[in-house]
Amino acid sequence: MAPQRPIILSTWSFGRVANAAAWPILAGGGSALDAVERACIAVEDDPTIDSVGRGGLPDASGRVSLDGCVMLSPRRCAGVCFVRRFNHPVSSARRVMEQTHHVLLAGEGADAFAAAQGFTPEDLLTDEAHEVWRKWRDDPALLKGERYRGWLPPRNVEELRGIGDEAQRIAADEALPHNRTHDTIGVLAIDLNGTMAGACSTSGMAFKVPGRVGDSPIIGCGLYVDPQAGAAVATGTGELLMRTCGCFFAVELMRQGACPADAARAVIARIVEACDIVDDHQVGLITLKPDGTWASAALRSGFRVASRATDREELAPAGHVMLGGDEASEPLL
Ligand code: GLY
Repeated sequence: MAPQRPIILSTWSFGRVANAAAWPILAGGGSALDAVERACIAVEDDPTIDSVGRGGLPDASGRVSLDGCVMLSPRRCAGVCFVRRFNHPVSSARRVMEQTHHVLLAGEGADAFAAAQGFTPEDLLTDEAHEVWRKWRDDPALLKGERYRGWLPPRNVEELRGIGDEAQRIAADEALPHNRTHDTIGVLAIDLNGTMAGACSTSGMAFKVPGRVGDSPIIGCGLYVDPQAGAAVATGTGELLMRTCGCFFAVELMRQGACPADAARAVIARIVEACDIVDDHQVGLITLKPDGTWASAALRSGFRVASRATDREELAPAGHVMLGGDEASEPLL
């Protein structure tokens, strides 16, 4: 099969926005690295998306913190986490990768680094996100269960709706313009030269314990790229991906000969085997080989992959859903 390039794959339905922003770069012969950064910026810049960038829901103390990373290869990768003052963690991570010998900067150090790199600080908490947090804080139901005091698991909007056939779910998705409670924007791309890159960006779990960092800035958990073997990017409950090094595991399986679909399925199966799964857990994973073949899998229904290649653009459900049965896999656009 002829290599499929350029190609870009992004998580969730807001991935269409990401792909649209990045496609001109790829189509014009630009780099996969520029494309994945641009894709994430497009979602980070939308304050109505409450799980990425400015507008993301805050932690239990009412403050927003952002995580993200970028990767070309084990030699060229970096992340930033617990960023409080800068809206573009992927851009900061790229500078860490390009300007330092480090792989991860955290908290005040990451903010200071972004400032030193000339990025403009921003107030990441919007009035809307503050109001959602205030309602959460004042919800008397939170007092009923210790587990939920100061900590709420992530949800995806399709799970919250929980009913209806695929057409109804898509219609409802369109009716919710901002795809509330979606999760990480994760992007994989291959450019015309065959270079592969990945990036992901998130505000993390809503109302998390302050200081909590998820999978998205951790190389191997929310993202892994090895030009010799393949790439994987993930979204959903970060703790599950961190317990299993989910994206690294997927790429290692492809290195050993697994096809992208088998690698993605195996990661979800490992998560189910190794972790205590609760109703609110979700994980979505995209796997990509250097030849442009790709696949996706999810723990539950609702995950979407936005893909764009020279001859097609699609928004499709996960190729394999572990719990609750497979969804229709035909193109949606
Ligand atoms: N997947 C994003 C997070 O758990 O923070």
